Amino acid sequence: MPTSTRIRKAVFPVAGFGTRFLPATKAQPKEMLPVVDKPLIQYAVEEAYAAGIRDMIFVTGRNKRAIEDHYDTAYELESQLEASGKDALLHIARSVAPDDMTCSYVRQPRMLGLGHAVLCAEHLVGDQPFAVLLADDLMVGPPGGEGVLAQMVRNYNNLGGSVLAVQEVPLEQVKRYGIVAGDPMGDGITKVSAMVEKPSPEKAPSRLGVAGRYILTPGVFDEIRNQPKGAGGEIQLTDGIASLMKKESVYAYAYKGIRYDCGAKEGFLQATVELALAHPEVGGSFREYLKTLKL
Ligand code: G1P
Repeated sequence: MPTSTRIRKAVFPVAGFGTRFLPATKAQPKEMLPVVDKPLIQYAVEEAYAAGIRDMIFVTGRNKRAIEDHYDTAYELESQLEASGKDALLHIARSVAPDDMTCSYVRQPRMLGLGHAVLCAEHLVGDQPFAVLLADDLMVGPPGGEGVLAQMVRNYNNLGGSVLAVQEVPLEQVKRYGIVAGDPMGDGITKVSAMVEKPSPEKAPSRLGVAGRYILTPGVFDEIRNQPKGAGGEIQLTDGIASLMKKESVYAYAYKGIRYDCGAKEGFLQATVELALAHPEVGGSFREYLKTLKL
């Protein structure tokens, strides 16, 4: 039995090269690319924090030091802002890492896949359920409502098994996702009976695609460990979850909110435009600017 059933820890796999954003990612992590004024990783960490999680675990790699620096104290910057009385900016810089949040880092020494990345965090997670957030997927909850991970934690607390965030995707896009199928239970929940990574449209068991948010029970670690290489020659998280499903109930949850696929240029641009429009400082003037464009 797990030692704790509350979701206290979140794993952020951030070791990937971000080749789809070259040359921007040649010398900086893709997770540090800003949408308006915040790096992608901060959106994901804030979503986990809002879901009650305080222990953040980053599975990192070479060239990713900027992420560690982002969650550390910036002494020179902070003392400069303090001395010049720029309190609002000081608050912004300091609130990136709230005092009650801890950050741990572990390296994924070789790019062997998402499953392998999650396995690298096993000793930091221990024997308890945990969340996985892929920062490429920027998730925005419904206006004034719960964030996506908070919705998932609530569902995990009710169901007591692993929960995967899903959305319906167009048939021609199933090859980009982990696809699940199963029995609908109401309230957006499906009890998963099939799960396959990046199938062709002919082989897809449904059009329910997994978005980059998972709540997993610790049993998944053994399953990942025993996986052969899967799609793309990588150790896939999807395959580990598919094996776990034979031993424990796994649920898919159709989250409420919007997902921006910031791993692709178009999704990143959509996020930038829509979050800029909603931004308290620049939203109004940006809207006026957009209206002047001849499209
Ligand atoms: C990963 C997962 C995939 C999931 C997707 C969500 O793929 O392997 O199952 O549907 O994230 O963004 P990636 O986008 O890293 O290729």
